[in-house]
Amino acid sequence: MKIRKLQQLKQKRKIVCLTAYTKSMAQNVDQFCDLILVGDSMGTALYGMKNTHSVNMSMIINHAKSVRLGTSKSALVVDMPFKTYGNAKQALKNAKLIMKQTKCDAVKLESNGKNYSIIKNLVKNKIPVMGHIGYTPQNKKKFKPEGITTREQLKLLNESKKIEQAGAFSIVLECVSTKTAKQITEELKIPTIGIGSSKYCDGQVLVTEDLLGLSGFKPKFVKKYNNLNQRIKKNIKKFSEDVIKKRFPNKKHEF
Ligand code: KIV
Repeated sequence: MKIRKLQQLKQKRKIVCLTAYTKSMAQNVDQFCDLILVGDSMGTALYGMKNTHSVNMSMIINHAKSVRLGTSKSALVVDMPFKTYGNAKQALKNAKLIMKQTKCDAVKLESNGKNYSIIKNLVKNKIPVMGHIGYTPQNKKKFKPEGITTREQLKLLNESKKIEQAGAFSIVLECVSTKTAKQITEELKIPTIGIGSSKYCDGQVLVTEDLLGLSGFKPKFVKKYNNLNQRIKKNIKKFSEDVIKKRFPNKKHEF
């Protein structure tokens, strides 16, 4: 089973995760990943929204169905959108719908420091859950790295342990300080997946559009592997010139 294998990687090697919102992107990343996340980051990275709050169930389900078509090897995890898991009953209904419609392997939900019983209930109902702590865009208004002070470090450590106890199979640490990410990774049995949370995490995740230079989002924690926007523009310019100068279409493209 993919989720169990993924957990076993903690003892063996680093875990590779990326986001995808479409079949074509999933086909590009699947071969090189252990886990593909259909993240609600699609709100900002794809739809140009100001935050992730307007991503809803039908958006996440439709994109996850597309990603499912391009995913064969990686575990597929789908984000539960903002305000879709406010209580155990609502969370179970929506998580079941996501699992059934998208055939994903697990759902991810952001911790608010209180929703442990919601995770527990999902796991009891055989829905694998990935936790998410640190900078959690659904709950926090302003960006701030987390776990800097000793007090914050202890708070995040406790939060991560409660999420593990609730039955989550893995946990995302977003923009968590190095010392805190290291301690959490050492003390938890489940794998930690970091984004902006140092090399000490068991795995790494990035928004694919960010690392490829497609989203225009350039935070400190993203290594830029390419500037695809620039490359795309070059090709589109060529197409435009070909049309205007009547070099395209030609005989080769005719019926
Ligand atoms: O929505 C998302 O893509 C995420 C990752 C940044 C972890 O939650």
